[in-house]
Amino acid sequence: MPGKWWEQAVIYQVYPRSWADANADGVGDLPGITSRLDHLEWLGVDALWLSPTFPSPNADWGYDVADYDGVHPDLGTPADLERLLVEARRRHIRVLLDLVPNHTSDAHAWFHDDGKRDWYVWRDGKPDGSPPNNWLAAFGGRCWTFVEERGQWYLHNFLPQQPDLDWWNEDVRREFDEILRYWLDRGVAGFRIDVAHALVKDEQLRDNPPARPTESPTWARVGQWPKHNFGLPEAVDIHRRWRHVTDGYASDPLLLGETYVMELDALMQYVVPDGLHLSMNFPFLHTPFVAEELAATVAETERLYPDGATPVWHASSHDDVRFATRWCAGDEPLTKCALVGLLSLRGAAILYQGDEIGMEAVEVPVERRKDLAGRDPCRTPMVWRDEPGAGFTAPGVEPWLPIGKTDRNVAAQREDPDSILTLTRDLIQLRRHRGLLAGAYTALDAPAGAWAFTREGGALVALNLGDEPARLDGVEGAIVLCTDRSRDGEVVAGALELGPRQAVVASAA
Ligand code: GLC
Repeated sequence: MPGKWWEQAVIYQVYPRSWADANADGVGDLPGITSRLDHLEWLGVDALWLSPTFPSPNADWGYDVADYDGVHPDLGTPADLERLLVEARRRHIRVLLDLVPNHTSDAHAWFHDDGKRDWYVWRDGKPDGSPPNNWLAAFGGRCWTFVEERGQWYLHNFLPQQPDLDWWNEDVRREFDEILRYWLDRGVAGFRIDVAHALVKDEQLRDNPPARPTESPTWARVGQWPKHNFGLPEAVDIHRRWRHVTDGYASDPLLLGETYVMELDALMQYVVPDGLHLSMNFPFLHTPFVAEELAATVAETERLYPDGATPVWHASSHDDVRFATRWCAGDEPLTKCALVGLLSLRGAAILYQGDEIGMEAVEVPVERRKDLAGRDPCRTPMVWRDEPGAGFTAPGVEPWLPIGKTDRNVAAQREDPDSILTLTRDLIQLRRHRGLLAGAYTALDAPAGAWAFTREGGALVALNLGDEPARLDGVEGAIVLCTDRSRDGEVVAGALELGPRQAVVASAA
């Protein structure tokens, strides 16, 4: 049976405000995205995930949705989105929307509708006037805000402007079934599901324990283990419900979950055959860029994944420091090695806009900062060309976030056979021809500083992340692609020599 389209898809995440600004107001928009779809077609990606496109007061830059059926006026009109869907389809690129079901904006009509009071989590405080429990919010402060007129507190896992929906409420569940159908009927190919792991909270609202040593950076900062308001297994019931909805469509819509847990064991509770199709692997993203550690995370993921389940790998996002900075400190050869690893593993891969040119985190001066949680450095505009406005916006227009260095840009790298961009494209082409990079992942013994594995289809992938040469014995075959492109096509007879910070995909006999 042929596999599903997403099983080895490359999904490209666009942060719409920062990709391409068609109307020269300094903010990226949907017509801008449509005008640059050629880049994605050329790159060869299978799908496009748009960070939220819905109307929003932008307390959390679109992740506070005020209307799940609309389009944010900053980004364009419903007709612009329709055109984007049509143009993407013409290029065989599927479009995923970013569904934000954990919470709405406090500007959403539901939040002000007395008839929908029980769609949210309103509770009395304790007799001493303190909030219902000790939960702390992901961006700091308490999870509870008191509303004088109502004499009660409401729950918010994130900002006070993002009241959490009560997912124990059947009406909420039914409403979201309809939202999914609304968009699937309009031709979207599925959804990235925001905070898919935290939809359901402890029904008794029990107090949380203190942070553990393994907490994610967010929770380490907050100082609490969000045991009772993030990562509960009951979220899977909701995923199953949505899977039932998507199963009703012949187009094979995808549910890609933001399952932001730090342990693979915890991730596995979402990896079920009738829930999310893909569950994002944050333990991988947070693995230090050390060959042995990457190999260990991948081996453990492979060990835990049941037959038939597809892993998905990503290294950057609009929330996390870009990998070219976090993993590679801007080093070009290491950035290329990271892309070889990311795009050669079994399963789907997600590239965040700019990963393909090695875009780095950009320092944003205090007076230009927009995000309360400090994530602006990974949200700055895409760099298309080395010119004022960077091809993102018209020269002379002040972009909503500053543009970083423009030396790494799409135009120059497209012309350069040795660039990060050309390598990324060649890797994607290699994946598309299912052969070599198909099938099971098998780890190989590798010298210190190196990580090596084979794919059932015949590829041998080896990454030397160290500063010394490394040698893999017993390899017969040919280098298909090397981060040092002058080695492409080289015959390997007996031993594969890897230069420092060098990676190869070889065909092994
Ligand atoms: C997810 C989003 C992040 C947002 C948060 C709250 O983690 O990726 O950007 O701030 O949810 O919606």
